[in-house]
Amino acid sequence: MLTELSKLSEKKIGREPRVCQSTDPGQAELRQRIQELGDWFHNIDLHGVQTAPGHFLGDFPRIKWKHLADVIPQDLTGATVLDIGCNGGFYCLQMKQRGAERVLGIDVDDRYLNQARFAAKQLGLEIEFEKRSVYEVASLPGQFDYVIFMGVFYHLRYPLYALDSIVKKVGKQLVFQTMVRGSETARAYADNYHFWNKEIFRDPDFPQMYFIENRYADDPTNWWIPNVSACEAMLRSSGLHIEAHPEVETWVCSPRHVQRDGRFILDMELDGTL
Ligand SMILES: C[S@@+](CC[C@H](N)C(=O)[O-])C[C@H]1O[C@@H](n2cnc3c(N)ncnc32)[C@H](O)[C@@H]1O
Repeated sequence: MLTELSKLSEKKIGREPRVCQSTDPGQAELRQRIQELGDWFHNIDLHGVQTAPGHFLGDFPRIKWKHLADVIPQDLTGATVLDIGCNGGFYCLQMKQRGAERVLGIDVDDRYLNQARFAAKQLGLEIEFEKRSVYEVASLPGQFDYVIFMGVFYHLRYPLYALDSIVKKVGKQLVFQTMVRGSETARAYADNYHFWNKEIFRDPDFPQMYFIENRYADDPTNWWIPNVSACEAMLRSSGLHIEAHPEVETWVCSPRHVQRDGRFILDMELDGTL
């Protein structure tokens, strides 16, 4: 996935992936352990050693987190958190450091899960990590106050199935982020259009998703890339209320109309009653 892109970018800008140099023997051993865990996508500071200092997006995902940091409560004492596609665990660590009682990170990739477990242990934080797909969230008992769903949507062949499944798990807030391409302008559209109105589809701001048959950014797991209007339309259509849009590809939402006549949208869609 993006690891390939990362390597490509490193080549393009003529930099070798690098790790911090230090003469401290403790740090040398730590650096060695970090390297043994494979390529990291999350740059995490572990006692002064960076796990992905050559990331092609810069200090990632701290550059994303800085937009979110003030939108999510500083004090999460007692809160429960689910991070879907947790990768190296950066967001899990942040949420735990804000006092969350329970943080569960799920991902389908053992390499990332092992990195996340290592990072949490190094920082002395008790976080659960589990190998589980987003499509299996329904089997997790109960809801979570905060659900983080960042950087996964566009990797899915069935993105709305995933979003509608996730909505059932959100107690207070969903943090949603996806790659966005095309128009970055969200506009309000009419409730209905005449069958012969074809013009509307030529409007670049109209909600649309690009389907990638082969590869985008060298990554065969990039399937559907929405524009900004489509993100907002899908979030609303899944019954969410958009509370904040702290940067172009990230939204913070709360559940609003996630049920109709006491039933979740996903269940109604699956049994043909929506
Ligand atoms: C681009 S990374 C995003 C990581 C992190 N959430 C972030 O925003 O920085 C995508 C992550 O989603 C995971 N992933 C891909 N498909 C998944 C699925 N079906 N269920 C759960 N995680 C998945 C990948 O293993 C990877 O860790």
